[in-house]
Amino acid sequence: MARRTIFAGNWKMYTVRGEALALARGILEGLKSPIPHEVVLFTPAVHLFEVAALCAGGPVAVGAQNMYFEREGAFTGEISPAMVKDSGARWVLIGHSERRHVFHETDEDVNKKLRAALQAGLLPMVCVGELLDEREAEKSEDVVRVQVERAFEGLTGGEAASVVIAYEPVWAIGTGKVATPEIAQSMHGHIRAVVEKLFGGDVAGAMPILYGGSVKPDNIAGLFAMEDIDGALVGGASLKASSFLEIARVR
Ligand code: 13P
Repeated sequence: MARRTIFAGNWKMYTVRGEALALARGILEGLKSPIPHEVVLFTPAVHLFEVAALCAGGPVAVGAQNMYFEREGAFTGEISPAMVKDSGARWVLIGHSERRHVFHETDEDVNKKLRAALQAGLLPMVCVGELLDEREAEKSEDVVRVQVERAFEGLTGGEAASVVIAYEPVWAIGTGKVATPEIAQSMHGHIRAVVEKLFGGDVAGAMPILYGGSVKPDNIAGLFAMEDIDGALVGGASLKASSFLEIARVR
């Protein structure tokens, strides 16, 4: 079944203003030769307005890397779903492994954020993935199943249909140790089966599932060739327009 394919850059806590704008301009320039995939840039929150304005009307969508689930209130340092929307961003990343492991976000937070994003009309990209010791203990499939089940708790099939999942094994993030296409495919197939059990074959079959973790120009082709890998969420290699474009041009 033909699914949407998406290549996303997660800039994490990199780029000051001038660098962010130059990077976005470089990517827009490169996409003057169109590609058959959607492109999303998850920029630092302070750059959202400007990068979204720069990208408006073009082939690149913009997203926030995080947001809080409350509508508004005394939550110093947080940004709300409405603020993300108002910036011109259409997407939001939810439950990235660094949010889970550095900032101690729980599955319950992820679920609340996912609901808040959908309610605000944002497009959520939910991240899941196991730790190295969980993989070594052969618990990866259970860990990821529980992350998916808890993230989607209480959602209708209609809501689930507008969610994208990114599988990012924590041991592959920023380590240069990319999952083999076979390992990634096996987990993507598992994730799709979990979604099918929750919401049925139509929702599961149409849901883009992206791989993330040390994706580079020289390893994307093998990953993207796999049946259930519908694109990539790229960290380090998304900070240079040339390497991000090379990845996103895969066919
Ligand atoms: P790297 O591509 O730097 O491993 O980061 C992956 C990631 O966390 C994207 O969200």
